[in-house]
Amino acid sequence: MHKSLSRRLFLQGATAAFSAATMGGLASAASAKEIVRPKPLYGPPPGIARLNSNENPYGPSPAALKAMMEASQKGAYYVFDSVIRLKEMIAERHGLTPEHISIGSGSSAGLTAAAIVAGRKGNILGPDLFWDTTSRVVEIQELGEIKRLPKLESMQIDLDAMYAAIDDSVSMVQVTNPNNPTGLLIDPVAMNNFCIKASKKCTVLSDEAYNEITDNSDANSVIPLVKQGHDIIVARTFSKIYGLAGMRVGYLIAQPEKIAEIEKYGVGWYGLNQAGLAAAIASYEDHTFMDYCRSKIKEAREMVSAAVKENGLTALPSVTNFMFVNLGELNAETFRAEMEKENVHIRGIYRDYTNWSRVSMGFIEDVQKYTSALPKVLHRMG
Ligand SMILES: Cc1ncc(COP(=O)(O)O)c(C=O)c1O
Repeated sequence: MHKSLSRRLFLQGATAAFSAATMGGLASAASAKEIVRPKPLYGPPPGIARLNSNENPYGPSPAALKAMMEASQKGAYYVFDSVIRLKEMIAERHGLTPEHISIGSGSSAGLTAAAIVAGRKGNILGPDLFWDTTSRVVEIQELGEIKRLPKLESMQIDLDAMYAAIDDSVSMVQVTNPNNPTGLLIDPVAMNNFCIKASKKCTVLSDEAYNEITDNSDANSVIPLVKQGHDIIVARTFSKIYGLAGMRVGYLIAQPEKIAEIEKYGVGWYGLNQAGLAAAIASYEDHTFMDYCRSKIKEAREMVSAAVKENGLTALPSVTNFMFVNLGELNAETFRAEMEKENVHIRGIYRDYTNWSRVSMGFIEDVQKYTSALPKVLHRMG
């Protein structure tokens, strides 16, 4: 279904146009002895299993592709109504108002602005390991620091310890749920209780980038707490389950006054693009597509789990589109480099988790490359 005729025709047309343009250029360089194939401008080069960025290669959905084609024809115009439309859709879904929502160029835009807002008031508190890429702005801009909880053997987030660590210096506590890179989900009841308590002391940010990949995603979200009026920011993105990472659309849900504060830092209208918004609108309630992606992700996770076990390793029980594999004695950066020699791209070391390796669930054939390369690489590394 997703390699539908319309999509194939669309892609073939685009590839043919690209090849004609580039090959014309190469043919004119008659003296060149060796033809150097141009790297594709978009996506991974052919033959490379790109399993290092938690993308969903099954996207964009056919509906999103069609909408992008239409919207791109109006690319001369700044975005306006499409932003309003998407905010209304999200608000309606959660019983909120459009003023509770800030749409950004990926969730990174809102997350960065939220970190700046927090950093101007104090420090950000997080677990030892979470997706801190945007929060690091507070340290880069010397606004404050990221305080981290001690590392836990279980890799879970200790919410009691987190609550106890909220002191006067902390302006925001941040969790990634499910967490990246561990792939672990926090118990929903514990998360709700924590958010209600902690948000009385400081802002709570729950980054739910992978929420829609989990089973029973609504139960795993704290968006209802925003509706109840708590000082909670929830980040969501179209980059993961919707397969639109390159189209750059994400959003924050929070109290309207918090949204207004965050939007002062340049998030919103001028950071957005017509095609990305069109794709997001067309995808938002496309449950057939999302179910399909979830089933592919599960299939891939089962393949990786089986391969990991067969090779005497273990992995954390992920509910996301990536898995955190314990390499035992082996070094994750060396493992990454060895995997790269097999044309399989994965992540290297996180912080001081030197023997933990993250692999994303891409196309099944790419995950197959990972599982086939695994015994070879482990053998080479001795
Ligand atoms: C947990 C988490 N949050 C946010 C992001 C940023 O995604 P985007 O800016 O594409 O929405 C990522 C990207 O990998 C992520 O893993």
